[in-house]
Amino acid sequence: MASRVRLTDVAPRDGLQNEPSPIPAREKVRLVRSLANTGVDEIEVSSFVSPRWVPQLADAREVFELLAPSAGPDWPVLSALVPNEQGLDAALAVNDRAGARLIGKVSVFTAASETFSRRNTNATIAETLARFRPVIARARRAGLEVRGYVSCAVACPFEGRMEPRRVAQVGQALSDLGATEIDLGDTIGAAEPGDITLLLAAVGDIMGRNGLGTITLHLHDTFGRAGECVREALGLGVTSFDASSGGLGGCPFASTPGRRAPGNIDMLRLFDIVTESGFSCGATRPALAEAARVATEILGAARGGEA
Ligand code: HMG
Ligand code: MG
Repeated sequence: MASRVRLTDVAPRDGLQNEPSPIPAREKVRLVRSLANTGVDEIEVSSFVSPRWVPQLADAREVFELLAPSAGPDWPVLSALVPNEQGLDAALAVNDRAGARLIGKVSVFTAASETFSRRNTNATIAETLARFRPVIARARRAGLEVRGYVSCAVACPFEGRMEPRRVAQVGQALSDLGATEIDLGDTIGAAEPGDITLLLAAVGDIMGRNGLGTITLHLHDTFGRAGECVREALGLGVTSFDASSGGLGGCPFASTPGRRAPGNIDMLRLFDIVTESGFSCGATRPALAEAARVATEILGAARGGEA
């Protein structure tokens, strides 16, 4: 039987966080509901971060509360980013009010680059890891899965190329704190297949074979090379990938004056590569196409007509 690949759609979070036009909570909910029909394994719904830093996601609580009545056990895992204990408290409060584990996973996020870490979270890498210790411990005690992101896993918009061993060490540090999944983010879409080979070799070296089994790849598609990188990673044993419907996405703190941070690899493209490479996944193409249509429609309406 073909190996099963796990798909996470990050469109409602990574896809929308960089969008300057306000998008109503009910439209975000429409996108999440449409993604829930696709058969993906997880939907990254929003972030419990400072509303001053990411105004577009200031409605995270409202979005989850609107989703609560329709979300059931047949839904994908719903997840949210939390940068600190304040964010975790907000996520746990949503579950308390829902009387269920509506949010099944929280994601902490740090980076391999000190400059990016400061610009993204106003903290050094070491400070982010110290913040995560109680966050991860409490989340695990509450029965939640924890994803640990390492941004700038290939290159940083401010510091340039990253040392693969450094990336793997940050991944190992997150794993040591109790993260159940390590997500390597090519934040600015700089990776070529050779970079993925070197990165995964360093991960294997430092985190061991079991460590490789916890890896998810989060590829942005600036130069149209994310697809080749997925093929390379599949060949090297990675079985979990992020993508976004409609190819939406980008971190506002990775944007530079010359270039706005690029979108994630398009979920339909990821699906095609995964299935053409002989792997299986839970999603179906027509449902993914419908979700991409909804994503594009919502963005188009927010931007005043053009998608
Ligand atoms: P700070 O200013 O150092 O925080 O920001 P603070 O602890 O000094 O608090 C300052 C204010 O923020 C206070 O409010 C806190 O209450 C509030 P005030 O008293 O001034 O009114 N605050 C919060 N509010 C809501 N929720 C919270 C929270 N924490 C503090 N959780 C902080 C530090 C981490 C909060 C800030 O830097 C932040 O929110 N950063 C978020 C950045 C972000 O979301 N970036 C995008 C996601 S990462 C990404 O896109 C990359 C990824 O896709 C992978 C890849 O592609 O590489 C994941
Ligand atoms: Mg991203």
